[in-house]
Amino acid sequence: MQLDVMNFKMPLIVFSIFLASGIHGTPISNSSENVETKRCPDGYTRFKESCYLLNNEVSSWIEAYQICNIFDSRLVEVDTSEENTFIQGYLKEHGQQKGQLITTFTYRGNYGNSNQMEYKSFPGYWIGGQSMELPGHWYWGKSMKKVDFSILGSHSVNITDSSCLFLDRANLYLARNKPCYTMMYSVCEKAPYTV
Ligand SMILES: *[C@@H]1O[C@H](CO)[C@@H](O)[C@H](O)[C@H]1NC(C)=O
Ligand SMILES: *[C@@H]1O[C@H](CO)[C@@H](O)[C@H](O)[C@H]1NC(C)=O
Repeated sequence: MQLDVMNFKMPLIVFSIFLASGIHGTPISNSSENVETKRCPDGYTRFKESCYLLNNEVSSWIEAYQICNIFDSRLVEVDTSEENTFIQGYLKEHGQQKGQLITTFTYRGNYGNSNQMEYKSFPGYWIGGQSMELPGHWYWGKSMKKVDFSILGSHSVNITDSSCLFLDRANLYLARNKPCYTMMYSVCEKAPYTV
């Protein structure tokens, strides 16, 4: 595994947390020492009770799973349709347009000329769902909860397959499945911390 995973190419997003309760100057009823403020680490983006990080280094699903673990997070598990919509929208705005160049090789053509060929990673983002142990039995890798395909809102997953789930750029980031060794980007998720 590469150790340059710290090099996430993420814009730094600064969060402001507003503690005011009303819109038009309604007084805050509880003193601020009762209010817990939660934050995401630098580089992560907050949505509800989670912090998200795009890993723009490409890897297989299992490596992506391990990389998220190293960062004390998990390969994202999509629990609600709001979360699904948020991640899709976030990727539409910030996701990589293309696969990453993995290697270039030269081959000789029919007429003795040499040609360059580029091998790129797949332009998608791994999420935590997989059916590696048993074809057609889909679980989120970390929590081992069953994948609810109605939340993912996708009919593009071959649910009888033994593979891994990803969000497909070419398909407006709807969930699809691919062999788990496919090289692509990934999304990590962790809980915010309390300050
Ligand atoms: C203030 O805090 C108390 C105790 O935590 C809670 O029961 C109450 O609903 C809070 N009031 C408001 C307006 O948030
Ligand atoms: C779905 O997966 C099963 C099991 O791997 C495979 O036999 C079948 O051909 C796949 N169907 C499609 C449409 O790819």
